[in-house]
Amino acid sequence: MPATVILGAQWGDEGKGKLVDRLAEDATWVARFQGGNNAGHTVVLGERILKFHLLPSGITREECNLVLGDGMVVDPWVLDKELSDWVEGGGTDPAGHRLFISGRAHIILPYHRYLDGLDKKIGTTGRGIGPTYSDKINRVGLRFDGLPHADTTAMAERQNAALEAAGCEQRVTSAELDEQIAWIVNRFGNAIGDTGIMLDNALKMGENVILEGAQGCLLDIDQGTFPYVTSSVTSRGNSTHGAGIHPGHVETVIGITKAYITRVGHGHMPTELFDDDGDHLGTVGHEFGTTTGRKRRCGWFDAVVMRHANRINGFTEIALTKLDVLGGLEEIKVCVGYRMGDREITEMPSSAIDLESCEPVYITMPGFPGLSIEEWLGIARKCNSEGIGFSGLPSAAQSYISKLETLLGVPVSSVGVGPDRDATIDRV
Ligand code: GDP
Ligand code: IMO
Ligand code: MG
Repeated sequence: MPATVILGAQWGDEGKGKLVDRLAEDATWVARFQGGNNAGHTVVLGERILKFHLLPSGITREECNLVLGDGMVVDPWVLDKELSDWVEGGGTDPAGHRLFISGRAHIILPYHRYLDGLDKKIGTTGRGIGPTYSDKINRVGLRFDGLPHADTTAMAERQNAALEAAGCEQRVTSAELDEQIAWIVNRFGNAIGDTGIMLDNALKMGENVILEGAQGCLLDIDQGTFPYVTSSVTSRGNSTHGAGIHPGHVETVIGITKAYITRVGHGHMPTELFDDDGDHLGTVGHEFGTTTGRKRRCGWFDAVVMRHANRINGFTEIALTKLDVLGGLEEIKVCVGYRMGDREITEMPSSAIDLESCEPVYITMPGFPGLSIEEWLGIARKCNSEGIGFSGLPSAAQSYISKLETLLGVPVSSVGVGPDRDATIDRV
């Protein structure tokens, strides 16, 4: 069975966790392939709200094996906390049994967090992601497979020089580093392995593997709105590379997008709203960052962003989320192009400065009624159990979905109408 890739198509927080949890019912492996605990993926199981930063969202399925892949940066202390929260919630610690960490993944150390804490320009999550990827690219980072050979005297010297140069007051010692390394080996030693080989073997045996993206296409280091991006390649091209398998394994690439758009951190978002409609999206959609709790900026659906994401990723299908949040708006706008100076464009400009001068060009669609969470959940259950797909949705909502499909040229395979695992309608 081929691998399925799930990717954020906007600026993150599109609902990847919810979709992965759902699809993992039929999978035996879920692997993260980039990013770290800058991610915050939410899974809602009735009254239980689970938030994952490093753990793949397939952890909710006991049969599913989990991989923190080659292309990731991993903070072992955050992972430990996430695992203890999981165990406190009644789960079994999967480390070394069904959770495996790639020896190639890089380790986020306290000094990476100190450096990231200085950021004022990008609005990072402060989790040490950028500095850890910098060390990787500079070929001085510490990987899980490098733990037994770490020269902590040289590490402390280099880290302290970097901290001093950055104007950071914290310092590290080699004794501290020795202790930290011993703790990591003791805690996770049995979980470290060649996860690419595990995934490759699973695929060869016909197992179902899901590659779970973090962040979104517009936060990609190359294809996003540089410099207001994260420090990894979030896109399809890196999904297999960062998992240690070849691209030929992939058949399905699901792009996830909200029915509108959000962004946390700095950088321009052309359709950002500062009016009552923006308040509606933020309030009804509970738009607060899963990792940092920051208020997410909200705007209308942007087909230019999606066109860009689709060109980079070649989505075979779209999972549309949070359609319920648009309920109660009289009119819904969709951005179909940008006005840049005296020109109208339909593709994302590559420069963040050019993007700042872009004004959205909108079409307007009729709204549909606002319903309660329970009412939307009822609609989803009815649509799925009766096998009627999207036709159980209000007709204006159906027209909205069709319009997005026409604009993107990619079919919508599922529509989210609430946070709960069951609040997703599958296309028939
Ligand atoms: P991720 O980072 O892509 O996994 O997304 P997050 O978990 O950070 O943010 C998505 C938020 O939207 C979470 O609070 C989800 O519970 C919620 N959510 C996901 N899908 C839907 C949906 O279809 N409708 C509503 N109302 N909420 C949703
Ligand atoms: P998930 O996987 C939304 C944003 C940060 C900041 C920029 C760089 O939950 O969709 P970083 O800490 O990565 O160096 O910050 O990227 N960012 C996210 N925004 N969802 C995420 O992940 C994000 N991960 C990073 O807010 O603007
Ligand atoms: Mg998130």
